[in-house]
Amino acid sequence: MEDIKTTHDIKILVNAFYDKVKTSEIGFFFNDLAQVNWKKHLPKMYIFWESVLFATVKFDGNPMGAHYPINEMAAMEKHHFETWLKLWKQTIDENFTGEIADSAKTKAENIANLMAYKMEMARKLS
Ligand code: HEM
Repeated sequence: MEDIKTTHDIKILVNAFYDKVKTSEIGFFFNDLAQVNWKKHLPKMYIFWESVLFATVKFDGNPMGAHYPINEMAAMEKHHFETWLKLWKQTIDENFTGEIADSAKTKAENIANLMAYKMEMARKLS
């Protein structure tokens, strides 16, 4: 196995990850609550991860902000983020190995932890 090196690698990773997510216990956030348009969401996520891992592009979305409305529809709890992370790490380990693959796991973990905390705080303050 090789490291995550190209935009094409990111596409493979992101596609395989959301294939798992869709049929997992956190799938309802995407399928039922947000009713995600995958044709739009996936390309957005390619750019997001390219900006996080390669810094060759700038992501102009709002990674934290996008989740508050979803958190209002159904609480996004710590265990949901644990499932998200488990699937992300599993998808990486099934396809890639190396420094960037490791950093994709660490960075996701940091963002997921911060996001879980922010969602919990938003619920407490509402
Ligand atoms: C339980 C965990 C999570 C759930 C259920 C979830 C769900 C969602 C949903 C439903 C959307 C909106 C899609 C749309 O309407 O097009 C979204 C957007 C997004 N998510 Fe998550 N997410 C989770 C965790 C994360 C984590 C940990 C990250 C980053 C490492 C992340 C990054 C993003 C980004 C970058 C967007 C697009 C933001 C934008 O539109 O500007 N998500 N997520």
